[in-house]
Amino acid sequence: MKKISTGVEGLDKMLNGGLIPGRAYLVEGGPGAGKTTLAMHFLMEGVRNGEKCLYIALEEPIPSLKEDMRAFGFELDNPNLRLIDATPVGEKRSVFADILYEDFAVSFEKLTRSISEELKTESYSRIVIDPITMLKLTIKDELKYRRAFMAFLKVLANYDATVIFTSELSECDIEEYLVSGVIQLRVVEQNGKPLRGIKIRKFRGSSFDEEARPYKITDKGIVVYPRESML
Ligand SMILES: Nc1ncnc2c1ncn2[C@@H]1O[C@H](COP(=O)(O)OP(=O)(O)OP(=O)(O)O)[C@@H](O)[C@H]1O
Ligand SMILES: [Mg+2]
Repeated sequence: MKKISTGVEGLDKMLNGGLIPGRAYLVEGGPGAGKTTLAMHFLMEGVRNGEKCLYIALEEPIPSLKEDMRAFGFELDNPNLRLIDATPVGEKRSVFADILYEDFAVSFEKLTRSISEELKTESYSRIVIDPITMLKLTIKDELKYRRAFMAFLKVLANYDATVIFTSELSECDIEEYLVSGVIQLRVVEQNGKPLRGIKIRKFRGSSFDEEARPYKITDKGIVVYPRESML
């Protein structure tokens, strides 16, 4: 089976070679766990291979994202990386060609439609939506959200892109059931120090390392230790 690298060597080992392309995955974690950093490893790996990549920011504005990611050596100003800032602002402004932020953020369907329009004009092989939590809040009814999310996954599946949604950590997320894989980043305190653990909760179509493994955030980004145990 064909696999693609996540851009994090240790995680690729846990995934027995990497992600299955053309599918959607969820990266879950608490604040500061490293969701955005992990997602950026994935996109920069694509950029290094000459692939077109798309990042949609729903929470962290692009200027501060660029600054934060530069600290890890990720240079986001690259013609193969399209960054779309869909974070809330006071005034209306254009996100995609003719869709204004307010429209975009209030409706999941509009997001789906605008992304599918974008995918028709450019073939992206890697897409990150960071975080999905912002859009989930736009649909209160669980059944409606489930339907909208499934419809969104179907649209994405037509374009052969590998997609990562990031999400805040919660006990039961509908998305976990619908995506092809779930990667969790957890941080616990141990002797007053943060102990970080990464765990693959689900990975359809492949075997994987079911144990949680330690990871660190360094000045080169995320480093996973696939042979070490959390104990
Ligand atoms: N050189 C470094 N060494 C160790 N930790 C670092 C270094 N640089 C940044 N960090 C930490 O790495 C984390 C980066 O987190 P990132 O933004 O990827 O998390 P996130 O899960 O997306 O958070 P949020 O929920 O706020 O969006 C931050 O907690 C930051 O303090
Ligand atoms: Mg983030």
